[in-house]
Amino acid sequence: MILDGKKEAALLREEIKKEIIALKKKKNKVPSLTVILIGDFAPSQIYVRNKEKNSKEVGINSEVIKYSKDISEKKVLEKIEELNNDNNVSGILVQLPLPAQINKEKITNAINPKKDVDGFNPINVGNLASGYESIVPCTPLGCLYLIKKVEKDLSGKHAVIIGRSNLNGKPMAQLLLKENCTVTIVHSKTKDIKNECQKADILVTAVGVANLVKEDWVKEDSIIIDVGINKVGDKIVGDVDFDQVKDKVKAITPVPGGVGPMTIACLLKNTLDCFKAH
Ligand code: GUN
Repeated sequence: MILDGKKEAALLREEIKKEIIALKKKKNKVPSLTVILIGDFAPSQIYVRNKEKNSKEVGINSEVIKYSKDISEKKVLEKIEELNNDNNVSGILVQLPLPAQINKEKITNAINPKKDVDGFNPINVGNLASGYESIVPCTPLGCLYLIKKVEKDLSGKHAVIIGRSNLNGKPMAQLLLKENCTVTIVHSKTKDIKNECQKADILVTAVGVANLVKEDWVKEDSIIIDVGINKVGDKIVGDVDFDQVKDKVKAITPVPGGVGPMTIACLLKNTLDCFKAH
């Protein structure tokens, strides 16, 4: 089974769009998302353009504030404070990575946790880790959505996550723990990554190493979720050697067209949820 993220994301966007139309009728208001984009890092420009386009398509008001790469941290913090206090703003997102003079920790701490559509503020991170209600980072949320398309009950499954980032690995682990999985995170210092992966009923990889996961790394009947986006020549590939692995496993996400579209759809969902919570 190839997990078609493009199709699932389109279905999710359609649901979100319908809900926004209904909210507009009832309250004459729609959600709004403000994205802060600093500098000229090319992939960030593309991601933000996609976020803006997708937001508009479902009826979310989208604003992008662009700063040059030498903007001061103080100016960005002042803007975040202004957006925190603006009742017309439902969600705030500061696109990463940030230039060296801007401290990521200070920025994520400054965003009002109730408007933190990325789920990166430590309040949301802590709530998720405690098993409480929280805003969940978009990429792992999209991954879980796809996993659940294959298997509703994940209780007792062994999940292995490659990569321990705040963006994906750690929140993915928390989400799968909440689903009663047994969770292993492997990373660059793990002694035998392949051996750990061989035990996985669910394997999620987000390390950015092209074609790392080979056929003999995976179990038959497993679910493989590939978050990696790697350029090989002029081709985009994931962390999994898709052609080797696809016929052995129960389900696998392609790259592109797997997790990527789900991440943006989940951002729209988080923005809608923030709006509804206010
Ligand atoms: N850069 C790459 N992915 C993300 C993301 O999910 N959120 C933000 N804010 N920046 C990113």
